[in-house]
Amino acid sequence: MDTDTPATDSHETPLLETVDLTRVVDGTTVVDSVSVSVSRGEVLAVVGPSGAGKSSFLRLLNRLDEPSAGSVYVDGVDYRELSPRVLRQRIGLVPQNPALIPETVWKNAVRGPALRDEPIPEERVHELLSSVQLLDDKLKDVSELSGGEAQRVGLVRTLVNDPDALLLDEPTSNLDTETEREVESLLRDVINDEGLACVIVTHDVAQARRLADTVLSLEDGVVRELGTPREVLPS
Ligand SMILES: Nc1ncnc2c1ncn2[C@@H]1O[C@H](COP(=O)(O)OP(=O)(O)O)[C@@H](O)[C@H]1O
Ligand SMILES: [Mg+2]
Repeated sequence: MDTDTPATDSHETPLLETVDLTRVVDGTTVVDSVSVSVSRGEVLAVVGPSGAGKSSFLRLLNRLDEPSAGSVYVDGVDYRELSPRVLRQRIGLVPQNPALIPETVWKNAVRGPALRDEPIPEERVHELLSSVQLLDDKLKDVSELSGGEAQRVGLVRTLVNDPDALLLDEPTSNLDTETEREVESLLRDVINDEGLACVIVTHDVAQARRLADTVLSLEDGVVRELGTPREVLPS
């Protein structure tokens, strides 16, 4: 355990907590009464077959979709009390296929602070682009990027917002093994250094084992298992 962060005890409010979180779409319950919590510096991996509701669950966590029942608490506060803009800065989602603006890598990376009329943290942007091997491409138009490169721009764009929690949807699905390990290493660094609460959807059991403290296994929107990687993942 990181000695710089306070020891987790049962009284600490989790950064992110879902209580009976539910979403019904056209009569189908795609997320069914899910209650989990994620503390600072902790990684929750969400696994399950295609169509299990993993992406739907992630989109509920920063209110890109509206819960049909239940809610999400950010530092103990019902997220419906926060403005969507503050919520999405604090709880950053990196979609599987991030929608980038038809501009350069750099313009996309600094999109958050630019939209908020905040100063651009240039040094931090350089550092992040460098850690995902994109610094040399910073003036490239995003139309020239591969799927994996676009995914990494999406990750940097979210991290530049300095979020409290990071939601990742299959963040390395388009990457070769070497780049995947570099992205995992960046993730571990930011999660530890900044005490981010992280929720990562992955179909890769080995990746869940490498990154996760807790694993949530979903099937048909229902919690099938919730426990340590050792308890939940096949050996
Ligand atoms: N906007 C939507 N409209 C209708 N059905 C949806 C919508 N979003 C998700 N679903 C359905 O919800 C279920 C869960 O989907 P999803 O969350 O994408 O699963 P996963 O990410 O685990 O593959 C699927 O059956 C999917 O067809
Ligand atoms: Mg999905």
